[in-house]
Amino acid sequence: MKRLALLLTLSIGLSAQISADESTFFPEKGTHFGVYYYPEHWQEDQWERDIKRVAELGFDFIHYAEFSWARLEPEEGKYDFAWLDKAIQLAADNNLKVIMSTPSPCIPAWLATKHPEVLRMGSSGKRNKHTGSRLTGSLANPIYQENVARIATQLAERYSKDKRVWGWQIGNEPHIQGGADYSPSAHKEFIQFLKNKYGTIDKLNASWGAAFWSFTHNNFDQVNLPGGNPHAILDFETYTSQEIARDLIDQAQIVRNHGDGKQWVTTNYAYYKGLKNVNPFLTRNDLDFASRTMYLTHNRKNSSGDSLAHRLGCGMEYALSGDLTKSVSGYMGIMELQPSQINWGKFNAMPMPGAVRMWVWHAFGMGDRFVCTYRFRQPLYGMEQFHHGIMQTDGISVSRGGKDFVKAVNEINALEEQLDPKATDPFVEKSRTGILWSNRNIIDIENYKHHQDWDTWQHIYTYYQNLKRMGVDVPFFGEGDALDPKHIPFLVVPAYQMMTRALIVKLEAYANAGGHLIISTRSGLKDGNGHLWETKIQEPIWKLIGGEIKFYDHLPANHPGKITFNQQTYPWHIWGTVTEPFADTESWATFEDQFYQGKSAILHRKAKQGSVTYVGAWSDGWEMEYDILRQLYGTVVGKLPFDLPPYVFAHYRQGLWTAVNYTDQVIDIPTSKGSKILMGKQALPPAGVLVWKE
Ligand code: GAL
Repeated sequence: MKRLALLLTLSIGLSAQISADESTFFPEKGTHFGVYYYPEHWQEDQWERDIKRVAELGFDFIHYAEFSWARLEPEEGKYDFAWLDKAIQLAADNNLKVIMSTPSPCIPAWLATKHPEVLRMGSSGKRNKHTGSRLTGSLANPIYQENVARIATQLAERYSKDKRVWGWQIGNEPHIQGGADYSPSAHKEFIQFLKNKYGTIDKLNASWGAAFWSFTHNNFDQVNLPGGNPHAILDFETYTSQEIARDLIDQAQIVRNHGDGKQWVTTNYAYYKGLKNVNPFLTRNDLDFASRTMYLTHNRKNSSGDSLAHRLGCGMEYALSGDLTKSVSGYMGIMELQPSQINWGKFNAMPMPGAVRMWVWHAFGMGDRFVCTYRFRQPLYGMEQFHHGIMQTDGISVSRGGKDFVKAVNEINALEEQLDPKATDPFVEKSRTGILWSNRNIIDIENYKHHQDWDTWQHIYTYYQNLKRMGVDVPFFGEGDALDPKHIPFLVVPAYQMMTRALIVKLEAYANAGGHLIISTRSGLKDGNGHLWETKIQEPIWKLIGGEIKFYDHLPANHPGKITFNQQTYPWHIWGTVTEPFADTESWATFEDQFYQGKSAILHRKAKQGSVTYVGAWSDGWEMEYDILRQLYGTVVGKLPFDLPPYVFAHYRQGLWTAVNYTDQVIDIPTSKGSKILMGKQALPPAGVLVWKE
């Protein structure tokens, strides 16, 4: 029954756009604001004070219970809901809605002790222990599943028709559990996955290229959990994504089966870079929408890199996570947003005064239907002691970041009636650009990068960032989704290494129907099964891109090559594809050096009503891609309203433009004559927010 539900869901895949209309769940406000609160961490006599304070600060919901299994079920089959009942009533007394969670991420000690097999295993075969961390459960283990279903059922029976409860979060950040599980339970399930997929061992051997290095299997029982063969790894990661989705779907169904359809169900997908086996599209049909979590000052990648980057954070990851989550069901919320310093960055700088306010505004501008901050109070003990909250450690004083957060909440509450659900913007409509997105492609490339500097996420960000510099709206699409040029006039296909013939035909049809297709290097190297084509290199896409691919090259970072496009020279070193245009195809750029000097790096051809641009190289610094996009969009769309530096964003939401600045420079934001500024100044300072109506 369980498996059947999953198969049905997955077979619908990315193509089905379901879920209730967002106005069913969010009829009153554009954006709601709330906090994580853990009653179980605090003296009971403080709850009333704390929860009252949450409401007084301007928040309108509160989030409970995602890690509280041991408190809810202190002994097997013995439940304690009194504390949660009380916390919910205190919320209601203060007009706060409640987000309820299922507590599956934290297994209680009694369960781990009685059934150690519920704990997952690492690739070395070492089993997790119950040591105070979380997300240690083996999703594939039947006893784990049974226990999760039991606690979820208890909660659902009690709260899924409760009017005080607004919606549900299933588990927590499923990616953390997404590292592959190498336990015997996972092994068994993986073999079942392979049997379902291939039917016979011969088919599996053929698909895995098992003739190579004597990897041939005589039967399914000989199959190990993968480590070497790339096709087996791709299958294992795909299985893992599906197992994560299955767990979420099973729990969501329990909540729904007990409910009356009035509460929404979501989970909080983490920001996506590197989270290769978490696929929010797999739960599209079973969760009402996807929400996300975001901590901006982790000081890794995708911040501006300037003198304030560590204080303003990775605005681009934030924006992409919003657009990707929104693409699942058409709307989204942010479940966790840091209110101040965090505890797990490379180093944990204090956000610049105003930064937290900007992040909240940025979420509003992107269209998040709620913004929940992690967390209300800073914990005094446990693994996250240095994670700051809205309140300081005394529990009664608002922190620096907390003040910023509250400021934004009150500003937005005052201004959001200006949203007009019917408003549209002509530029946004004409320039909307889809990005074709596939987990499996990311997994396949990341498994074998071929250049040490290749990073598939950074390649996708190259296009994403440059589109955002032009103020373009960027939804994400899967292969199964309808690609209608009327709704998505442009489509970027970034490093789409595995392509089926059907996809190639679909892309051709899109361009012929008026779509403007931008395909980047590395696309179409392999078939949908991850094998190289038995043709000349990438030959199945030659017709689509309007030219012949000769070969690809890689260079060392300290000796980059040069490409000339419109008299400008751009460096590249990671991946360059040498091409030769067909007769009707234009060559937009040429390699300036190496033994293939003068050969084409970028092709552009007209399709029946649209066009196809093939960008054969990935430039260092990403400026070449920006200039190519500007040329193409300038021709198709006409005057481009924005020419923003990286890390400055302008988002359009229902009649309002919101611009935010993650750089250390004052940036002038262009608005048209006659536009009305509602907040901020056009000369936008670092951490500044500008809101205007055109
Ligand atoms: C998130 C997680 C939260 C909390 C937070 C701290 O990734 O979902 O439970 O640990 O990080 O930054």
